Amino acid sequence: MNTAITQMLGIKYPIFQGAMAWISDAKLAAAVSEAGGLGIIAAGGAAADIVREEIRAAKKLTDKPFGVNIMLMNPEADRIAEMLAEEKPAVVTTGAGNPAKYIAALHAAGIKVFPVVAGVSIARLVARAGADGVIAEGTESGGHIGAHATMSLVPQVARAVEIPVLAAGGIASGAGLAAALCLGAEGVQCGTVFVASAECTASAAYKDMIVKAGDNATAVTGRSAGLPVRGIKNNLTGRILEMERLGAPAEAIEAETVGSLRRAVKEGDVRDGTVMSGQIAGLIGSIRPVADILSDMAAEAGRILAEKRAVFREC
Ligand SMILES: Cc1cc2nc3c(=O)[nH]c(=O)nc-3n(C[C@H](O)[C@H](O)[C@H](O)COP(=O)(O)O)c2cc1C
Repeated sequence: MNTAITQMLGIKYPIFQGAMAWISDAKLAAAVSEAGGLGIIAAGGAAADIVREEIRAAKKLTDKPFGVNIMLMNPEADRIAEMLAEEKPAVVTTGAGNPAKYIAALHAAGIKVFPVVAGVSIARLVARAGADGVIAEGTESGGHIGAHATMSLVPQVARAVEIPVLAAGGIASGAGLAAALCLGAEGVQCGTVFVASAECTASAAYKDMIVKAGDNATAVTGRSAGLPVRGIKNNLTGRILEMERLGAPAEAIEAETVGSLRRAVKEGDVRDGTVMSGQIAGLIGSIRPVADILSDMAAEAGRILAEKRAVFREC
């Protein structure tokens, strides 16, 4: 495949494995990069030194480009950005905010910057600040979400900015990749499908929840606190939604979720932990090696786009 993203980064497939706190470690990111996509290590809420160790571990596993994600809400974000300018991963993606203040230093270190955006205004803002591309993430995604659906967000962002756009949210197949390209994206970022990969080190129970999920398996909690999160329905989401219905304060909801993603990922507590997942989990039926996920997506997208071209030739 040949898009602005594969050319800019020198990768085989225009597919990013989105950062996933507690999940996308050196092992998963390196496996994705080795297989031709762009693996991304999640800094999540970790300290800069821990993230540095993951980067060094990934460098031992692959000499292909990979990325690191800074959650801008992390109080360590400044220190992580400084460390990244020293470690020089090929790409930095950012979540939950505007990374403008870091862009010059990251560029000086030769790093490409791709902020995750959930709307047109923030996409324009980061493009003006010098971002190399944007990841337009729809509300179908797993994890922290915005309000806009991928289908309508991507073409609006693609029209608003000159830099390449990646589509995220609800993509786990070649059909999703082909659709994103048709909407004006130069590539995609996927999260949930890479949780269900052989190389992902999340607990077996977490991966099993995703494989068994149906189309209505997810719920969004935290809307009342202004921090909506999508995950698979379980005891915890039920408790939080009930607290929200009764008007519980944001601090009480926050207290209920502290440490809950780590519990589900690391300890397999998928009843009372947070099982972040996108709505596309319903399409994911098995755990596959990342190399198969990437090559199947690209092959299916190629087939679909060729078929559609043939349909239009006949019109
Ligand atoms: C378990 C999980 C954790 C996530 N953690 C982060 C994160 O730390 N930083 C971030 O920018 N995005 C995070 N995301 C979003 C993903 O990077 C990606 O954009 C999203 O999963 C794409 O949508 P999909 O799940 O429908 O594929 C997370 C998603 C999941 C499923």
